[in-house]
Amino acid sequence: MTNTRSLHTIPTVGIDAVSIFVPHHYFSIEELAHIRNVDAEKFTVGLGCSKMAILGPTEDPVTMAAGAARGLIDRTGIDPREVGMLIVGTESAVDESKPIAVYVHEMLGLSPRCRVMDLKNACYAGTAALRAAMAWAASPAAAGRKALVITTDVAYYDLASPGEPTQGAAAVALLVTANPQLLVIDTQAEAVYTREVMDFWRPTYRNSALVDGHFSLECYLESLRACYQMHKEMTGLSLADFRHVVFHTPFPKMAHKAHHRLFELEGGRLALGMSEEDSFHWKVEPTLGAARELGNVYAASLFAALISLLEDGKLQAGQQIALFSYGSGSSSEFFTGRFGPAIAAWNGNTGFSDQLTRRRRISYEEYLFYRAAYEQRNRDGYFVEDQPTEESPYLFLGIKNHRRQYAFLPPGRAADASTGVLGEP
Ligand code: COA
Repeated sequence: MTNTRSLHTIPTVGIDAVSIFVPHHYFSIEELAHIRNVDAEKFTVGLGCSKMAILGPTEDPVTMAAGAARGLIDRTGIDPREVGMLIVGTESAVDESKPIAVYVHEMLGLSPRCRVMDLKNACYAGTAALRAAMAWAASPAAAGRKALVITTDVAYYDLASPGEPTQGAAAVALLVTANPQLLVIDTQAEAVYTREVMDFWRPTYRNSALVDGHFSLECYLESLRACYQMHKEMTGLSLADFRHVVFHTPFPKMAHKAHHRLFELEGGRLALGMSEEDSFHWKVEPTLGAARELGNVYAASLFAALISLLEDGKLQAGQQIALFSYGSGSSSEFFTGRFGPAIAAWNGNTGFSDQLTRRRRISYEEYLFYRAAYEQRNRDGYFVEDQPTEESPYLFLGIKNHRRQYAFLPPGRAADASTGVLGEP
């Protein structure tokens, strides 16, 4: 009898498709600076921020995750039954036990034969989820099925704290497959770095994160140095070899600091034959759209930066990029990928810009009201009546009898507006 396992050849693996969910409201960073009596340029130039995405009262990390995945399913036309694994990477858990992934599994109509889980590791959670999904997709167990990785997060700090201008919210869904058409990820080199530090954390009794801001930037840059040098020793590749470098970007200035660190490590202008400004302009600038428009989106930040690069629209098959993922606490990884044959279809066509144009700017009073709603909805008894629509197919209604309640339009049933309900006692 033939042993089929021994015949398994390891295929290429990576990202076959991507999709982003952008919340429907934003608050202006210039207005925040005015209200906080801070020179606006500190936030807009010093940090590089422009807008922060704010969750509305019926949005939460679950509805964002489902929205991102639905965009991906609608675009690719994949049969939800082909999905054999769903991993949600997040630090915005809605329950200490029940994963976001199992709510999303129901909302998307995935097959019961699908392994689901949430993965927590601050902003590194998305990359950890991607790695786990890739290992499964490349294994015989996947048998041609696909994995969904969703990153969904709300960056939420105390009012008037240094982190406040870097808040944001969004979700990004990745379709992870063997023989991917969008981005083939290198699986040979493993440049990871772990170090216990208290740079950013969120105790279970708090909605808002705590951050030792300047120390967190040092930790990020030291992890970048360690991962980059490890990767270089393993592969021989360096900054000059990468068409673009996609950094975890909690705020745009962080990408400047990260690029500066790599530029210095490589010996600067003389060694690289290019000014630091030019190197940044070509390699990093096209990745910054999401960080400017959404703010920090924690685990989704790296992949939102990748979507910004696709939306910039100048990529070609075969081009090599590097990605750096940093999660406070801390875990980090430097890895590379090459664009596949489908890249032309994604250039300037991720759906990101369209979603940005449909947003509404909110006032400071609404900003405060939406924050209050965000805090309320983690308490039993908060409840709103609302109906899902094709524009907002997933709604968080509140918590009754300690059960989270969602109303949603199941995929393919949007036209007759019949709703699914989750969480009714
Ligand atoms: N015009 C232009 N730039 C100005 C300015 C002005 N009027 N005033 C200050 N700046 C610059 C500063 O020089 C600094 O830039 P630099 O870092 O390039 O020197 C930047 O604006 C920020 O000023 P700073 O005084 O450092 O701000 P802060 O102490 O209020 O906090 C952070 C900055 C980043 C530490 C804070 O926003 C934070 O904690 N953010 C969250 C950190 C985070 O996300 N960590 C996770 C890492 S993954």
